[in-house]
Amino acid sequence: MSYDVKALRAREFPWAERGESIYMDHASTGPLPARTRDAIASLGARRAEPWRLTQDDYYPVHAKARERCAQLIGATSDTIALMTNTSHGVNLSARAFEYGKGDVILSTHGEFPANIYPWMAAARARGAEFRLLPLIGDWPDEAALMRAIETDPKVKVVSISWVSFWSGHRFDIVAIGAACRARGILFFVDAIQGVGPLTLDVIAANVDILACGAQKWLVSPWGVGFTYVRKELIQKLEPAEVGWWAQASSGDYAKFLDYDPAWAADAKRFEVITLDFVGFNAMAESIGLLLELGPKEIEAHVKALGDRAVAFADSAKGVEFVTPREPSRRAGVLAFRTKDVAASSARLAAAKVCHSVRTGCIRLAPHFYNTVQELETALELLADRT
Ligand SMILES: Cc1ncc(COP(=O)(O)O)c(C=O)c1O
Repeated sequence: MSYDVKALRAREFPWAERGESIYMDHASTGPLPARTRDAIASLGARRAEPWRLTQDDYYPVHAKARERCAQLIGATSDTIALMTNTSHGVNLSARAFEYGKGDVILSTHGEFPANIYPWMAAARARGAEFRLLPLIGDWPDEAALMRAIETDPKVKVVSISWVSFWSGHRFDIVAIGAACRARGILFFVDAIQGVGPLTLDVIAANVDILACGAQKWLVSPWGVGFTYVRKELIQKLEPAEVGWWAQASSGDYAKFLDYDPAWAADAKRFEVITLDFVGFNAMAESIGLLLELGPKEIEAHVKALGDRAVAFADSAKGVEFVTPREPSRRAGVLAFRTKDVAASSARLAAAKVCHSVRTGCIRLAPHFYNTVQELETALELLADRT
């Protein structure tokens, strides 16, 4: 059963119903639903006058946020570390995974730099090789990636983005995860462009660490996100950064001066600092909305929008669809190469269609509350009709 998009827009995104923007830039920054704005205002007001805060405004907020992140990806909340962004999860993997001199960390060209520089630095520090497989056209060479996993004993880590930030290509992380697990290869996934428009069973996909900022497709504020760490790995990984927050005793203020370095038993050991309660409360509200609508229903809605883009691209002249046409190979990022990208972008902007230009492509990134009519308006503006 699908949800009522019109009612959803009226309730949570009234500016969209009023036509103030055709917002299709979720691959950059997600808008905040009304319930999330209200939650920020309410807890923010108590934060401004902290004597008004109650115990429920502190740790239960984080517990709720971890629980909802877990629900979204088919995990349990003890495997979720709240983090301020995706990059912390990349750094945790690059620094805590076990590999050394001569080992290969495998990735591909076309990755967002957040999933490049931490590995470059860690490989340099440990004498490992950070190997980027070339693209075929606009897409990663998944067959070559699988071949290397299956045949190169030096490969110790595979690190990929589930969905490409610019082409919208989606890796088959279930197949890659199974191949990695069969060979004891550690598997890291940057999921920021996938979680939200897609459903995920992170355990079935054999992912070791998954990092996801919530500022885009999870329609949450900047500075909030999460990292999943596979249960069996948690106790084996040494936290990359150390603060006062990650210890088993950190919640017990009477034990501050015991200086007991024992890590928390669960993924909280990878959290470092006093995490923002207002922001994570907001994230919990936003993810709560997605869970309420139904992740599968959202996935179906975004897929239908993608199908419409494919049908358009099949008939439009002068517009190349860069994203894979096959539904299992795309998510919410829809990329187009037009004859004159700057002119297409100007037409979209003039019609208040929020979009991005990335790597020479127009990127439309519609989400769960966008309508087919909105997408059609945007698609019609891509091609030069003169
Ligand atoms: C694939 C990918 N990874 C990471 C990021 C951002 O990383 P962070 O959340 O650390 O700012 C982006 C976009 O900004 C992205 O597209």
